This record gives sequence, C-alpha cells and structure tokens, in this order.
Amino acid sequence: MKAPLIKTPLPGPKAAELIRVDAQFVSPSYTRIYPLVVESAQGSWVLDVDGNQFLDFTAGIAVNATGHCHPEVVEAIRDQAGKLIHMSGTDFYYSPQIVLAQKLAEIANMTGGARVFYGNSGAEAVEAALKLSRYHSRREQMISFFGAFHGRTMGALSLTASKAYQKKYYHPFVPGITHVPYPNCYHCPHGACYPDCGSACVQWIEDPLFRTCIPPEEVAAIFVEPIQGEGGYIVPPPQFHLELSKLAKKYGILLVADEIQTGMGRTGKMFAMEHFGVEPDIMAIAKGIASGMPLGAMIANAQIMDWHAGAHASTFGGNPVSCRAALATIDLLQAGLIENAEIRGRQLITGLQEIQKSFECMGDVRGKGLMVGVELVKDRITKESAPDLRSLIVQSAFHSGLLLLGCGESTIRFCPALTISAGEINTGLSIFEETLRKVAG
Ligand SMILES: Cc1ncc(COP(=O)(O)O)c(C=O)c1O
Repeated sequence: MKAPLIKTPLPGPKAAELIRVDAQFVSPSYTRIYPLVVESAQGSWVLDVDGNQFLDFTAGIAVNATGHCHPEVVEAIRDQAGKLIHMSGTDFYYSPQIVLAQKLAEIANMTGGARVFYGNSGAEAVEAALKLSRYHSRREQMISFFGAFHGRTMGALSLTASKAYQKKYYHPFVPGITHVPYPNCYHCPHGACYPDCGSACVQWIEDPLFRTCIPPEEVAAIFVEPIQGEGGYIVPPPQFHLELSKLAKKYGILLVADEIQTGMGRTGKMFAMEHFGVEPDIMAIAKGIASGMPLGAMIANAQIMDWHAGAHASTFGGNPVSCRAALATIDLLQAGLIENAEIRGRQLITGLQEIQKSFECMGDVRGKGLMVGVELVKDRITKESAPDLRSLIVQSAFHSGLLLLGCGESTIRFCPALTISAGEINTGLSIFEETLRKVAG
C-alpha cells in the first residue's frame, strides 16, 4: 500500500530554486497556497521535484477525473498527437471533434437533442453560454447567484460573485447581471430553515426582484451551479433546482447549468443536475472533461443553438488531442468511475462525519460523490468562520503528504480523482484526522 513520503524539508532544494525563479517571472496573480513543485504524477499520487510523494485530494482542482496520466488517456493523446495536433475546428472538419460532439449530446440527454460549441476552458464555456443566451432570446438581463464562480474572463467574471478581491479594480462589468441569494442552508440568507423557508431563494427572484426591479420578460438566462464549487461546496436543498427551473420556464428564461466543476461524474452522476431531476437548456462543462487536457464545451438544446455562422468561434477550441482525451475519459467514466465516485464519496463523507464527532471546529460536512467540503467554524452555535484555522490545516496536511485545497470562506474541499481507492480514501482520512489533532486538538 502506497503512502506519502516526505524526504526533505518543504520546499526541498530544487523546489525552492524553481519557486525563486517563478517569483521573478510568473504572474503574481496566482494563489499558490503551499510550495508544491510537481515533477510527475500517476493516479492519485504526485511526486515533487525533490522526490517527495503526496496523496492528491485535489485532482488539479477537480480536473484529473481519471487520475493523473491514466494509461488509456495517455495512449489516446499519444496516438492523436502522432496524427493531427491542430487544424482549427472553426474552419475545417476533423473526426475527434465531431465524434465527441455526438457523444456529449448523447450524455447531455436533452429533449430534442443537443449541439456543442467548443472552447478551451470553463470561462470560455460560460462566455459562450452568455452570448448564446442573449443571441437566442434577444433579451439583455441575466441572473446569477451570490457565491457563484463562473470564471475570470470579463463576461464570466461579471456572473461571478464569490470573492470581492477576484473583481477588485475590474469594474465596470458586463451590464444587465443581477446576483441573488443562493440556498446556502448552513448560513441561510433568509435566516430560515429548510423546508420551512418555503424555498425563499427561488421566491425572492419572483418577488421582490421581478416585481420591483427587473421585468422577467427582459431576462435571458439564469446561470447556476448545481452545487456551488469555489463558493464553498454548497449543496442546495433537494427541491431548489426543480423550482428554479419551473420559475425559468414560467417566464421563458433559459436555465444555464454551470457543470464545470460538478460535471463529468464527479458527484456520482454524469452531471449533477441529474440528482435534482432538472434538464437545463444550456450546460457549461470543462475541468474533468478531458482529464487535464484543455477543453471546455457549451452544450445547448438543439433548438436553442440557432446562431448564424461566424456568431462565435475559437481557434483552438475542440482541439483534436483534447477531444481524443475527452473520448477516452468518457469511456472510463461510463465503465465504472462514476459509480466509484459515488461509493468512495459515501466512504469519504462517512469517515469525515466520524472525525467530526471529535472536533468542534468541523462545523459542516457536506457534498455529493467526490465533491465533499468540510466547513470550519470557531463555534458550532455562532458558525463563525475560521479561515486561519483552514489555512493551518491545509498547510499542515501538505507537510504530512496530503494535498488539500480550500474553497469559500472557511471550507476545505476534498475532490480527489474518480479512480481513488478505498485504501487511499482511508489514508487521506487518517492524515486529515492526525492534522486536526495537531492544529486543532
Ligand atoms: C463552476 C466553475 N465555473 C467556471 C470555472 C472557470 O473555469 P476555468 O478556470 O477553466 O476558466 C470554474 C473553475 O474553477 C468553476 O469551478
């Protein structure tokens, strides 16, 4: 059984030298939390440049769905790279882009069929959804949620409302976007308790927002994450998306599901909206879609994707190598990884809930499949957040060989590869518990 192995002080000498050069030449806007300099990785294990071995519970921010360098994905990339690396699907045809679109339309399972637009990232998939929503509806207004993260290009950032520093000095944003409260039941924005709230978060959009401020017939789309990711791994109550979808239908508003983090099997279903029994009009996907190769896709109901030739395009979007990696990824997801995400996710949540009994600082354990968050608090009654403790835990786990990341104000996210084994989950849980004992015991 593999275990983390830390042989040098962290960072080790080679890592420290690279970080020194990085500090001079790489953009200071990146938010590295600990000094990990990766040399190679396989499955759920990462080797740094000094030979230290880490158990990866981040999967490159929920990207390496099939684990690092899955042999079948590597083989698909190798094979495609030897045949055709680029031709621009905007101007020419090639098979991987077409075959993948057919596959994505099949798994999106939209009534009447779907069509696919390709970009290279999550933000580009969201930009495409924003543009198509306006194009198709000829409406200007858009709604998204507080806590939402939709990306960092100007359109996607306009929809984002996760952390103010992500938007600082970039105003003005795309006009016509209004943010509304997300059903974060652990900190109910309406001071209520589900189900007594009567789905206040959906009601609020109709009244006061539509009644007093925004005529619903001017709203093109509602953008929503099925489970908020960067905002804190927040799982809405079971009826929320169904009611939101009913509201959208009532006013002819498009429902756009940002499945960039929740999609591609991560939550134990191919797309997280399946947990809620909702069919969106448009989906944005990226991250896990190609196991780490750059690819984003906007999938829309075929009736909705009615824009003219030249309305939108991308030189690199739908690159043949990324498309082959995506096809190999989807095969692996369908051959058992989605099921594994569900089973290992239950093991992870149960293990964390067990640890929670001994640590007051673990306010809330929540998630679906392998998208699991632990919200840290100073006090379980006041639920005051504990961001400094969160940092300490993430740093200390790193020094013990476990890679974790934060999200939200005070949450630790657990988003390992969907290939993770029962033994690896147990190893991660033991290190996490030991870390808590050290820093919060
Ligand atoms: C839900 C969601 N939407 C959009 C994005 C942006 O994706 P990218 O960083 O690939 O542009 C992210 C990235 O974290 C995300 O989690």
